Amino acid sequence: MTQVKMTVNGKEMSGDVEGRTLLAQFLRDDLELTGTHIGCDTSQCGACVVHVNGEAVKACTMFAVEANGAEVATIEGQANADGSLNKIQQAFQDHHGLQCGFCTPGMVMSAAALLKDNPKPSEAEVRHYLDGNICRCTGYHNIVKAIMAASGQDVSAIAAE
Ligand code: FES
Ligand code: FES
Repeated sequence: MTQVKMTVNGKEMSGDVEGRTLLAQFLRDDLELTGTHIGCDTSQCGACVVHVNGEAVKACTMFAVEANGAEVATIEGQANADGSLNKIQQAFQDHHGLQCGFCTPGMVMSAAALLKDNPKPSEAEVRHYLDGNICRCTGYHNIVKAIMAASGQDVSAIAAE
């Protein structure tokens, strides 16, 4: 076992892990941050997306030891300081950007990373960026709409679905 330390949602966290322990497993099983979902074993679904040192990462593709010393952000740390939904989360709610919700944490974390780099993405850019996130409920239309609304763009011309 190896001790790892990282900052998760602004708090110092540590634990003992095996070399094979994935970051997603460490977050869920050791830190009980179960908002990071595991929806596949092929690194395709994106339900596990977190931020590591500010970059969107599929937490099932990284060993916990690789995140030693890193700044990690998960869905649990995305709300505003007063506990209210942040603008992306609120936009998902307002535009029905979720159905069962399983993909939602990964979608929100991917959206946050996209909007950090591209604050006003086009619909095509949002769809391209979400290439690595699967919604098994196929709610892509409203997810894209929610992300564009969160970026401050007028989405009234985009039909509801
Ligand atoms: S659980 Fe990481 S991509 Fe599916
Ligand atoms: S809302 Fe169900 S998987 Fe996306």
